[in-house]
Amino acid sequence: MRHLMSPLDLSKEELDDLLTLASDIEKNPKKYAHVCDDKRLATCFYEPSTRTRLSFEAAMMNLGGKVLGFSSADSSSASKGESVADTIRVVSCYADICAMRHPKEGAPLVASMASSIPVINAGDGGHQHPTQTLTDLLTIRSLKGRLDNLTIGLCGDLKFGRTVHSLIEALVLRYSNVKFVLISPEELRIPSYIREDVLKKNNIEFQEVERLEDALPDLDILYMTRVQKERFFNEEDYVRMKDFYILDKQKMELAKKDMYVLHPLPRVNEISTEVDADPRAAYFKQVQYGVYVRMALILTLLEVKLPC
Ligand code: NCD
Repeated sequence: MRHLMSPLDLSKEELDDLLTLASDIEKNPKKYAHVCDDKRLATCFYEPSTRTRLSFEAAMMNLGGKVLGFSSADSSSASKGESVADTIRVVSCYADICAMRHPKEGAPLVASMASSIPVINAGDGGHQHPTQTLTDLLTIRSLKGRLDNLTIGLCGDLKFGRTVHSLIEALVLRYSNVKFVLISPEELRIPSYIREDVLKKNNIEFQEVERLEDALPDLDILYMTRVQKERFFNEEDYVRMKDFYILDKQKMELAKKDMYVLHPLPRVNEISTEVDADPRAAYFKQVQYGVYVRMALILTLLEVKLPC
């Protein structure tokens, strides 16, 4: 039985197969409409979510399966003191696969060790968010036609943004010649374990800069992120940081004609709504790719026999 805690749980070949399956699902959705008729997905979300939870549920429904779950710790027995290990033992009796989001780093891993069904990490604190990374990879591959030889700018909260951590790890360790421009205020720089153990250790070309304007002209992809309010220790620091970057029409003029803008969403102020009409704004397309890739992931982890 396999779980997904980090994008690196998939080899390069498995990752490519999964993205290819997701693209086939996009082209032939009907073919997959009943492949999970007898399966159930549990969504155990101890932290707020719109896209991740609903896209998992939509993915399972698109495959013909059923869904059950809870969307906050308050509405589960966690509020009575139940451990994630006990909860997953119980959920294993009701469902075939579980997507779990938790504010504590490592909680889905603890759950996976007690589980008798595959567990998918749907975001653990400021650590990892592997299914957002699969979404991002599918989006980039679909729009640019490749995942190698790219210059990617990541902008905003690089310290607490778990989507950034997972995406960098996957691109560095599974693809080649990807360069990074890390755009953040001093206080929200990338954690040192990513800088040292992932980027430097693998001799990856990267720069850390503060001004978005300086980075924009060189980028193939700009990955914007929200300042992660819920991970700050005090409100004052958050207020100081929250509007540090605002991508607007004027800044978009500095970018290449084929530079796409991605964002895991939710957006707060970091992308002005005037950018939405720009053909390079890909963040809502990205949401759709998130459904296809989660369908492909469910099929892969459940080892469902694929239709020909
Ligand atoms: C992200 C997350 O939860 O980490 N959202 C998502 O899953 N699409 C990003 C965020 O909350 O800023």
